Amino acid sequence: MAQSMKDFIKLHPKLKVIIYAGKGGLGKTTCSAATGYWYAKQGQRSLCFSTDPQASLSDIFERDLFGKGEQELARNLFVVEIDADRKISSFQDEVRKQIRDMYGIDEIPKEIDEYINTASYEPAMHESATYDAMAALLASRKYDVYVFDMPPFGHGVRMISMAKILDAWIDKMAEARKKAAEFKEAEARIRGVSAEAEDAVLNELEEIRNKLDFFRETLTNSDTTAFLMVLIPEKMAILDTERALKMFEKLGITLSGVIVNQVYPAELLKRPDLSEFLRNRIEMQQVYMEEIKEKFGDYIRAVIPMFDREPKGMEMISKVAEHLFEKPGLNSLRGAR
Ligand SMILES: Nc1ncnc2c1ncn2[C@@H]1O[C@H](COP(=O)(O)OP(=O)(O)O)[C@@H](O)[C@H]1O
Ligand SMILES: [Mg+2]
Repeated sequence: MAQSMKDFIKLHPKLKVIIYAGKGGLGKTTCSAATGYWYAKQGQRSLCFSTDPQASLSDIFERDLFGKGEQELARNLFVVEIDADRKISSFQDEVRKQIRDMYGIDEIPKEIDEYINTASYEPAMHESATYDAMAALLASRKYDVYVFDMPPFGHGVRMISMAKILDAWIDKMAEARKKAAEFKEAEARIRGVSAEAEDAVLNELEEIRNKLDFFRETLTNSDTTAFLMVLIPEKMAILDTERALKMFEKLGITLSGVIVNQVYPAELLKRPDLSEFLRNRIEMQQVYMEEIKEKFGDYIRAVIPMFDREPKGMEMISKVAEHLFEKPGLNSLRGAR
């Protein structure tokens, strides 16, 4: 019998980070919200983090959260939806300020300013800003559990092999400093550079490095981070999960489990008034459920039914949480309410 989510959590007392991976539209954000909700109910401070302004935590919690910082939606339940663009522009302002302070100048030379501006067009910059925000929250140690709701970057598996991209943030900063140093050769020599300002920048880089190292260590340790794949009983999702499993293996990462979502309650088949259409869909799903059990058996941590409406709002989230955590995995195939 596969471990349920609850068993899994009991067996992993050091768990800090939970990440749902998988293709878009299968239920990652829904599971993320339900996980944050469940932990909060257990009396643990939880933070749900998302970056995707579309189909997001704002939708599910029915609150506009985007770019508003950490919001407490219920006791112990915190949610943050970061505005990566804004983060990038404030990072750019920060770099400009540092350069101004360091060289005691009022205006950044045009070439350097342009160089800093182009950074915002790089896709890696967007991701870096996101990871930096995640790393900062983790390093703050303000929460017991962090649920990172990721957009479907190729299975979210990339997350963990992100080491290089994480460093892009620092590289950018270091590069900007190098550019500034070239400028210093040419011009700032006359004005002189404060050694204190240089130190401040170096200290800051060191701090960022530490923060990212801690983030990386936490994410790559299966005691502290759980990666869970969300799938539905359909062919494509099964193939996708198989591929992801192989990829995880290749990367030397432990997959913590799979969540089967949007499963029509099989007991509906007993109803005489069931439409042909639904009967066919349910029967099809049951075939795939068998395949899922065969292929991922030990990984299955929960089975969540297809609800009669989109799970939005606290009441529905609590229902999802119940299925995710309080029902014994595969045995919960029956009953949607
Ligand atoms: N068990 C479910 N029953 C009914 N609708 C669901 C269920 N799980 C998710 N949904 C709906 O499916 C859509 C995709 O879910 P979402 O959690 O946003 O997926 P993802 O984050 O993986 O893209 C949303 O509209 C959501 O409300
Ligand atoms: Mg989502």
